[in-house]
Amino acid sequence: MAKQKFSSESLTTMTEMVFPNDTNNLGNLMGGNLLRLMDICGAIAAQKHSSRVVVTASVDNVAFKDPIPIGSVVTLRAFVTRAFNSSMEVYIEVHAENIPAGERVMTNRAFYTFVAVDQTGRPIDVPAAVPQTEEEKQFYEAALRRRQLRLVLAGRMQPSEATELAKLFE
Ligand SMILES: CC(C)(COP(=O)(O)OP(=O)(O)OC[C@H]1O[C@@H](n2cnc3c(N)ncnc32)[C@H](O)[C@@H]1OP(=O)(O)O)[C@@H](O)C(=O)NCCC(=O)NCCS
Repeated sequence: MAKQKFSSESLTTMTEMVFPNDTNNLGNLMGGNLLRLMDICGAIAAQKHSSRVVVTASVDNVAFKDPIPIGSVVTLRAFVTRAFNSSMEVYIEVHAENIPAGERVMTNRAFYTFVAVDQTGRPIDVPAAVPQTEEEKQFYEAALRRRQLRLVLAGRMQPSEATELAKLFE
């Protein structure tokens, strides 16, 4: 197994059109359907990075600021920002496009955490992720703080152990 891989090697894009079956009563893409698309796109990025089966371990805050109307073209972009031991943080952003109107807006962004598992479902180590672009470097830098915050919220880390996170408040 490679010891490290570039973040860009996991870059994954997906494009979908919003059909009536995907929408709520107002004719906008249902939030759950969007989360599903983000989960799939993020999982593919994590698989590319780890060359393993992956499972979703957590989903950070997702805000639904702008509705995505029926007929929109939805494009998702995902890549691994940082890998830890068996877990990988994946950044996923969503753009919605009204092609006839020539409009394109970023509607959502979120960080998902995926864990690589072996044939028995046990976590298994993954390569380190190496950032190259300015965007990748910024996400990489802040990833440790986000990891500590989500592990504290999940009750998997004591607040006193979240030293990187604590530095924000010093
Ligand atoms: C995710 C899962 C593999 C973790 O298993 P576990 O026995 O708790 O394993 P560990 O304690 O060794 O943790 C493994 C990694 O998961 C990470 N992790 C576990 N829970 C997490 C959470 N809530 N948020 C972020 N990361 C988490 C740990 O930090 C650890 O990361 P590291 O190896 O990079 O340090 C296990 O809980 C699982 O299989 N969950 C179900 C996954 C699933 O079905 N997802 C789809 C839901 S519909």
